Amino acid sequence: MPSSPFTAAPLVFPLASESATMALGSQLAGVLRLQLRSAADRSHGLSVHCSGDLGAGKTTLVRALLRALGVTGRIKSPTFTLVEPYEIALDDEPNGNTPDRGDGESVELKRNLSLYCYHFDFYRFTHPREFLEAGFREYFGNGALCLVEWPERASEGLPVGAAPLLPPADLFIRLDTAGEGRRARIEAHTDAGRACLSLLTASGASAASS
Ligand SMILES: Nc1ncnc2c1ncn2[C@@H]1O[C@H](COP(=O)(O)OP(=O)(O)OP(=O)(O)O)[C@@H](O)[C@H]1O
Ligand SMILES: [Mg+2]
Repeated sequence: MPSSPFTAAPLVFPLASESATMALGSQLAGVLRLQLRSAADRSHGLSVHCSGDLGAGKTTLVRALLRALGVTGRIKSPTFTLVEPYEIALDDEPNGNTPDRGDGESVELKRNLSLYCYHFDFYRFTHPREFLEAGFREYFGNGALCLVEWPERASEGLPVGAAPLLPPADLFIRLDTAGEGRRARIEAHTDAGRACLSLLTASGASAASS
């Protein structure tokens, strides 16, 4: 099997202020948009898990990401509703600032694509089975962009060795406090996620070494 052309190394971003978290969210939006537009199999969609303690900045990051994807109006935290749905257009960014794939391959960008995006927060789950009971499984792997805060709440308490209920993430983002600011570490868990990491590097996002 040929090896993936995309980097697998996690990227680490120092985030000195809330505006740095928001800037990372915007940069991520650019690469997710490009990946979703150029994917050969668009039915997969993308799944991004965002993990970190209370107040780590997960919602701040996801809100900025959604805003940069063109969501207008109030972006509510799904802490109480568990999920907030959006429909997003995948047209070029207004400033034409879509990053290059950076892998030397030509990409046919198609216009007027739109897709569903779901912002989840599983903090209030008292048991992972609530993920299935809520019918959330069908939101994943169906062409949507799924952004998940507190993904661990969909696995904590399952018997050791049990099959995971929440499908694996393409990208896993860990946010931690660092002094007065925060630090983000982004890992790719699939080829699509690795493509996103490559795009993030190519877009000039300034990551520190991990
Ligand atoms: N890089 C940063 N430096 C300092 N403060 C930040 C940074 N990023 C976000 N914040 C602030 O952290 C606070 C908590 O952010 P947010 O609500 O996004 O956290 P959260 O991880 O979603 O929390 P919860 O788990 O409770 O949902 C907000 O006041 C936000 O402005
Ligand atoms: Mg939150």
